[in-house]
Amino acid sequence: MNSVPKLAKRAQLLKPSPILMLAARAGELKAAGHNVISLSIGEPDWDTYGNIKEAAIASIIAGKTKYTPPAGIPELRKAVADQASLELGVQYDSAHVTVSSGAKFVLFAALQALVDPGDEVLLVAPFWASYTTMVELADGVPHIITCDKSVDFKLTPALLREAITPKTKVLLLNSPSNPTGKVYSRDELSAIAAVLREHPQIAIISDDIYNRLSFNEKLAPHLLHVAPDLRDRVVVLNGASKSYAMTGWRLGWALGPKEIIVAMSNYQSQSVSCANATAQYAAVEAVKNSDRDVALTVETLRQRRDFLIGELNKIDGIETAIPEGAFYLWVDVSRYFGRSLNGKVMRGSAELAAALLDEKMVVVVPGIEFGLEGYFRLSYALDNVKGKEAIDRLKEFLSALT
Ligand SMILES: Cc1ncc(COP(=O)(O)O)c(C=O)c1O
Repeated sequence: MNSVPKLAKRAQLLKPSPILMLAARAGELKAAGHNVISLSIGEPDWDTYGNIKEAAIASIIAGKTKYTPPAGIPELRKAVADQASLELGVQYDSAHVTVSSGAKFVLFAALQALVDPGDEVLLVAPFWASYTTMVELADGVPHIITCDKSVDFKLTPALLREAITPKTKVLLLNSPSNPTGKVYSRDELSAIAAVLREHPQIAIISDDIYNRLSFNEKLAPHLLHVAPDLRDRVVVLNGASKSYAMTGWRLGWALGPKEIIVAMSNYQSQSVSCANATAQYAAVEAVKNSDRDVALTVETLRQRRDFLIGELNKIDGIETAIPEGAFYLWVDVSRYFGRSLNGKVMRGSAELAAALLDEKMVVVVPGIEFGLEGYFRLSYALDNVKGKEAIDRLKEFLSALT
């Protein structure tokens, strides 16, 4: 009898995302008629701006629906290069830009282009859950630097220095951060840059996907603002998903030294060929003409952030770091560990989140998924009415723990 061939080790390594499993459980409960509220959403709840949709439609009508060059259409590469040159203060042209199917795939390609087997990639925990697996798929070794509350969840020069080994190849930085919403200041970035200058073999991938969703400045401070001399070692990662509410269009890009950008584009040309053509034409409009809409979005997010923090502060013993960007709250729930509900002891954020869903139909992401135990990540990509209802239910749930 034929049996199914054994999976490659690479495939065996891949685990389904626990976040998606939570979402699946929430879906089942919804289908069974329960009023589920999700605070786990990692995407804007507002629509793609109208001018962007119109640009996409116009491109389809004009017949621009064929394969594009692997690195992206020239108009988009130029728009991205112009925007980054203006905003980061470092001169880029189209040859420094590659475009692909979401920042996620661009990051994947960057790691494939930079990491040899055994190379170490420094990850700052808490981090976006996909980083570790992507490093492993590049045969790299994730070297996790735990950055807890004592360092405001951010990498410090001392922690960076301690983590660097002769095998360190890449540092992955993300500001504003998913999951904490923390933003590095110019001084903090300068101090990190000083350490990086001592180690010229290290490439830096700066994941800027949330950099426009920034509350204190129009654009979150960037490593290249304070250390333009590092430009040949930095891959700037960004995309249309969060800033322009275009998650489903799957469009992301990177800027960097030409050698790395060519290698990434070659990787893309041999895998996905190119990004979706329509999304690329839409993104040209997004990059060029969204400043007003993004500013309005940031004001809405600020108002939601402040409202939800106000509601959370009414819960005894809850501590929330004030995010300066993105759309997540990072809430310390560790004091509830060890308490029980219906005889079941809550041993960590995963169990606490699972019980919250079963008891109160509220979905949150347990902090452990981001590499730091003790927290929930709550997204405020939802309106205040639902947000308040969710926080009320969270309060009832937590106060029922004994
Ligand atoms: C920190 C971070 N980087 C990158 C991405 C990838 O975004 P996309 O692939 O939608 O462009 C995400 C999406 O959730 C993210 O949170």
